[in-house]
Amino acid sequence: MTKIKIAPSILGLDYGRMNEHLKELEPIADWFHVDVMDGVFVKNLTIGAPVVATMKTKVPLDCHLMIANPGKYLEDFAKAGAYSITVHAEASGKNLSDDIDKIHALGCRAAVALNPDTPVDVISHVLPKLDMVLVMSVFPGFGGQAFIPEVLEKVRWLRSHYPKLDIQIDGGINDKTAPLAIKAGANVLVAGSYLLKAKDPKAAAENLRKANSSLR
Ligand code: DX5
Ligand code: ZN
Repeated sequence: MTKIKIAPSILGLDYGRMNEHLKELEPIADWFHVDVMDGVFVKNLTIGAPVVATMKTKVPLDCHLMIANPGKYLEDFAKAGAYSITVHAEASGKNLSDDIDKIHALGCRAAVALNPDTPVDVISHVLPKLDMVLVMSVFPGFGGQAFIPEVLEKVRWLRSHYPKLDIQIDGGINDKTAPLAIKAGANVLVAGSYLLKAKDPKAAAENLRKANSSLR
């Protein structure tokens, strides 16, 4: 059975009490998913590298950069303590391969995110050197949106061609959609509102993991 990683998104947390929240969520988190938005690539604005640098946790930070020109900021996020850095294929454009090399040179894991309407073909030239692909199951920008099942076709294709690749899915993940994503081949689940709105986040995380055992 594949080991499923749970990456709670910090998007819905109270940023003023970030380190307390991280402490509470540590027991259920394999990674923390840090949503970085610039108000340009997406219509929302969150945090940058200086805030990431203040996060105190032993859980690896998985930084999802929803920003234009990500190449300019990679070093800042690496220095801020990122374990993994994800750039969007749509934002990196022709610099995608260079951005990935730069992330690796900075000592971080490198991932590329695909919007729901971006085909896998646009990353075929870089796939062999990626540690992870993030398949967005909502259009990026906001938490709490509904899962788009059509993206599972990309997950299935990636899993069949790259059996060892980490495949992350982000957007609208809950106890109903997690089993679909896992069955298609995703092994890293980002969850924002489902975990944070749960009365018992620990039980909610268990539900996501349980999806795995009921399928195989
Ligand atoms: C959306 C972000 C997601 C978001 C997920 O642009 O990339 O990480 O926080 O939130 P939920 O799980 O509520 O869809
Ligand atoms: Zn995200």
